[in-house]
Amino acid sequence: MKKYRVGIIGCTGMVGQRFAVILENHPWFQVTTLAASARSAGKSYQEALGGRWAMKQPIPASMANLPVYDAEKDIDGIVSQVDFVFCAVNMKKEDIKALEEMYAKHECPVISNNSAHRSTPDVPMIIPELNADHAQVIEHQRKRLGTKRGFIAVKCNCSLQSYVPAIHPLLDLGVSKVLACTYQAISGAGKTFETMPEIVDNVIPYIGGEEEKSEQEPLKIWGHVENGVIVNASSPSITAQCLRVPVSDGHMAAVFFSLDRKISTEEIIERWAKFKGPAQELELPSAPKQFIHYFTESDRPQTKLDRDLEGGMAVSVGRLRPDTQYDYKFVCLSHNTLRGAAGGGLLMAELLCKKGYFD
Ligand SMILES: NC(=O)c1ccc[n+]([C@@H]2O[C@H](COP(=O)([O-])OP(=O)(O)OC[C@H]3O[C@@H](n4cnc5c(N)ncnc54)[C@H](OP(=O)(O)O)[C@@H]3O)[C@@H](O)[C@H]2O)c1
Repeated sequence: MKKYRVGIIGCTGMVGQRFAVILENHPWFQVTTLAASARSAGKSYQEALGGRWAMKQPIPASMANLPVYDAEKDIDGIVSQVDFVFCAVNMKKEDIKALEEMYAKHECPVISNNSAHRSTPDVPMIIPELNADHAQVIEHQRKRLGTKRGFIAVKCNCSLQSYVPAIHPLLDLGVSKVLACTYQAISGAGKTFETMPEIVDNVIPYIGGEEEKSEQEPLKIWGHVENGVIVNASSPSITAQCLRVPVSDGHMAAVFFSLDRKISTEEIIERWAKFKGPAQELELPSAPKQFIHYFTESDRPQTKLDRDLEGGMAVSVGRLRPDTQYDYKFVCLSHNTLRGAAGGGLLMAELLCKKGYFD
């Protein structure tokens, strides 16, 4: 099979580094091009990283000596070397919007981990097991942008990556309300314990913008396509509190929810065990075999023990039980830079590739 040529925009960042690691030896995709800000441009990847490499694995040998381009100024050269790009950059929202549209208008598909375009109605925000059908809005978006190939597709925020998949198999029962408290790792802020010493022995009860994303983005994922755009779902009503905790990787959530039609906890666990979607049916290379793992032990899932389950692409759930104020409560976990960011972006790219969107 032909390998698709891939660029990583934001290659020096936390998510960009994760992309580099998970794309090494990928069966369909090969990283040919790296880009970041003007600060890194003109250096080799290794030089541009300096001491910032934060992954457990070494810098992929096939990328260490690749030149890093300026994502904005060198766009013509970059798009001529790639079939599509992954984008994870730390810039102002308006600048990210403009950058991603510029790549799309240069006929280069953009798989984005940034939040800038998440509320754009003809930009799909896909979790491949849940809403693969939203890819159909790409045709509408291409007409709007005036492109033949170019488009933008986005990955949702990492905070909701654990509880939205867990709630999803129950939607037909009428999920009326959801309360989620998240306990989020420092890599979600692009930080390590060295670069965020203030988190050691501490919990910080505020992550800018995160609660709004946690409450609103699920409604787009659960929305439907009408006249070429995604119309958000009107329920369930969701409320969230997001805390930063002293953990390197892995976002945990404590979740409460109510159903219009009650079922037993055993039936909920059975629905989780049986749940699969197009990622599994199409046997996408990065798909977990079992998407939702339920732990019966009362002290699981644990961040350190369970975040890497199925290559960090599965969702771990435990402690499902009745609640006195909502109907049920449970705890869930997902790896924020794997399933929650780069891995989730890669799985979406595999889905879109299989459906022919990069041809
Ligand atoms: N960390 C997570 O778990 C996570 C999860 C989901 C989504 N995200 C999103 O992913 C994006 C990146 O997050 P991160 O944690 O990887 O950030 P980060 O570690 O701060 O890295 C930011 C990257 O953006 C690049 N950059 C900054 N200004 C630029 C410019 N003007 N032009 C081109 N590149 C520029 C940086 O390049 P230089 O090195 O040259 O400055 C670096 O490669 C953000 O939008 C974030 O919200 C992160």
